Amino acid sequence: MDSPAVSLHGFDVVRGDQIRHSIFANVDDIIESVRNAYIAHEQGRTVNPPSAFLKFPQQPRDRIIALPAHIRNFNGASLTGIKWISSFPGNLERNVPRASAVVLLNHPETGYPYACMEGASISAARTAASAVLAALELNGRKKAVDSLGFIGTGVISQHIFDFFAASGWNIGTLHAHDAAPTHALRFAQRSSAYVSDGYQLHDNPGTLIRSCDMTVFATTAPAPYFDDPSALDHNPILLHISLRDLSPQLILRSHNVVDDIDHCMNGNTSPHLAEQITGRRDFVRYTLPGILVSGDAPDKSKPIIFSPFGMGILDLAVGKYVYEKARADDKLISIPNFFADNA
Ligand SMILES: NC(=O)c1ccc[n+]([C@@H]2O[C@H](COP(=O)([O-])OP(=O)(O)OC[C@H]3O[C@@H](n4cnc5c(N)ncnc54)[C@H](O)[C@@H]3O)[C@@H](O)[C@H]2O)c1
Repeated sequence: MDSPAVSLHGFDVVRGDQIRHSIFANVDDIIESVRNAYIAHEQGRTVNPPSAFLKFPQQPRDRIIALPAHIRNFNGASLTGIKWISSFPGNLERNVPRASAVVLLNHPETGYPYACMEGASISAARTAASAVLAALELNGRKKAVDSLGFIGTGVISQHIFDFFAASGWNIGTLHAHDAAPTHALRFAQRSSAYVSDGYQLHDNPGTLIRSCDMTVFATTAPAPYFDDPSALDHNPILLHISLRDLSPQLILRSHNVVDDIDHCMNGNTSPHLAEQITGRRDFVRYTLPGILVSGDAPDKSKPIIFSPFGMGILDLAVGKYVYEKARADDKLISIPNFFADNA
């Protein structure tokens, strides 16, 4: 029997250099795309199943994660696809980035994939956009911070810093700490041209956190290593992007903001460990999507910790944006007859 005729849009590839160019030329739009994806989530227009983790018994540090997602009525059309992202920390020893990925978009009517995009750039951009969006909401919508710290100064920290800079934040002193001091130095030297009062390197996380109004965690620590409540006496904002740096005790004495509570209570993140210890999750009172819709952000009476699990809907929102830019700029690499049955 003949298969029903379907109208397809072909299959396009978008290269990483093109994506990176388009991201850094349009940082405000990328942040806006991420904001809109979070708002869609809060309004119940998303399907974002739990991420699937492929792990290797013989390589305990390595994993590949699948993040399928769907957003209904996103800028007038539905958006469906998946990010497939590898994390191999040993790559750094080979001078290769830890993370690599593709993002696929699927046609809303036929389900056919129509775009394959380099995904590590998309993933880093959506993570940075989410962090900077949270920073703005948690900082009373002021784009200014006297002292901004980074613990773990790899690809994600660099993207977050670059997004702060490109979206017009005023930053006084930059603080950096990394288990590999050469990484912290390289990061600080590369970033310091943008800040007004230079940089300071720290050989431990405690002195950095004490010195900073806002601290980004983007390490690859597999389990919490920081448990000093006195370092949080000044009630800082902590953007806990790597999710497993802070002890459950610090989580329990702070205001907690996540992207999605069910997602975040997984994978032995610090909030998940706090849930396992206490048998409850009511210590998380805020989500970023909720804050974006209601405007109701935590006060400064306690430290504020933002722990985003990372949602596939953000990858789709940014992926679709860069796909449309590549199409407008005639940068799509089209693969004719990709689907043999429709050739
Ligand atoms: N929540 C999210 O949505 C999200 C998204 C993307 C990445 N991430 C996480 O962000 C983290 C950073 O990613 P990346 O691509 O920048 O990795 P990377 O490998 O490029 O950089 C990590 C850096 O952290 C340093 N480091 C490792 N352990 C440390 C410790 N205990 N103390 C201080 N420094 C330490 C390393 O030396 C390295 O410089 C990863 O854990 C990744 O899973 C989270």
